[in-house]
Amino acid sequence: MSNNLQEKKVKVNLDKRSYDIVIGSGLIDEIGLKIKPLISSKRVFIISNPTVFSLYGDRVCRSLKSVGFDVNFLEVSDGENYKSLETAYELYGQLINHNASRFDVIIALGGGVIGDLAGFVAATYMRGLPFIQLPTTLLAQVDSSVGGKVAVNHPKAKNLIGCFYQPRFVLIDIDVLKTLPERELKVGLAEVIKYGFLSGEEFLSFLEEHIEDILAINPEILTEVVLRCCEFKARIVEADEKDFGKRAILNYGHTIGHVIEASSGYKKYRHGEAIAIGMVCAAKIAQKRGLIQEGFVRQHEDILKRAGLPIMPPSLDAKDVMKHLLLDKKRCDEDHAFVLLKGIGEPIIESVAGDDILESLKPCQ
Ligand code: NAD
Ligand code: GLY
Repeated sequence: MSNNLQEKKVKVNLDKRSYDIVIGSGLIDEIGLKIKPLISSKRVFIISNPTVFSLYGDRVCRSLKSVGFDVNFLEVSDGENYKSLETAYELYGQLINHNASRFDVIIALGGGVIGDLAGFVAATYMRGLPFIQLPTTLLAQVDSSVGGKVAVNHPKAKNLIGCFYQPRFVLIDIDVLKTLPERELKVGLAEVIKYGFLSGEEFLSFLEEHIEDILAINPEILTEVVLRCCEFKARIVEADEKDFGKRAILNYGHTIGHVIEASSGYKKYRHGEAIAIGMVCAAKIAQKRGLIQEGFVRQHEDILKRAGLPIMPPSLDAKDVMKHLLLDKKRCDEDHAFVLLKGIGEPIIESVAGDDILESLKPCQ
């Protein structure tokens, strides 16, 4: 089923925890062949939700069975609410019922919710078993499947319970994005645009030139885009795997994005939409500090608007904003590690006062 687009590879170099990310078109049918040399056990547990499994489960199972794997499917309901300790506990129970050993393999087939949850279960069941990522949303392909952050949510905060646990392999099939709802594609595109601003002029110009091709799911362009994002993230993760320094730059737009998501009760905005607004606000703060010119704020607004993402902050209650900022600050145990740009591809981390954040969130400036 593979078409004639050449597959691409990114290596994440982390000593004994190094792994390949393979990107291409039609690769889902090759998952069996690709992972066979990496895995000693014959048993595989696919963790997925009904939405994704009904679309791709048969092909993944066929490919795995064709090379001799004994395949089991563990179903999780669709939605962020199920990225929880309760769901992890149910999955542990199912693994125990199957007599799963620590040499068996977990494959995450789905978006970031499934990847984070399945990775958390893989990291903790019997102190860790081999884990493969098969990401099916653009966000998961360019961000969550790479770098080993795995977690479940706590009712009081997202991603609070988790660890670093690198996958053995990441297989990215661009073709699965064709079934992704348009809004989800745009949510992933916000992270892609973030990489554009973080990595430099060349990739940002490529994105500006090809934004419509991306929205039309042009496979050549998307393969290139996902490749460049994964390469960028891989280099950051190699430099700071456990997130004590440089990895923080990946949070460009996220401090304000998180506040927008939380202050609006996690209902109105998808994560990527909130960080799109967060990036515009961060650019305004950088402009106010004289780090960048006004045109740079407009450049943010233009590309995000063309990607169909929101750029205007909603009206938020100032007290609510401050409350959520404080929670974020406690989590970091230091001043706000706020990511600003002093140019394209020039991220810096500065402390930003709450009042400046509030001002950047004013709807009409
Ligand atoms: P998601 O996993 O909820 O997927 C979005 C929706 O798309 C779901 O309904 C899903 O079933 C559906 N879907 C997935 N693939 C599909 C396909 N190919 N065709 C049709 N429908 C499909 O959302 P997401 O945006 O992928 O992930 C969000 C999660 O990722 C959050 O929990 C966030 O905390 C986490 N995250 C983790 C990291 C990390 O580094 N670990 C980074 C960013 C985000
Ligand atoms: N998504 C941010 C990180 O992986 O650090």
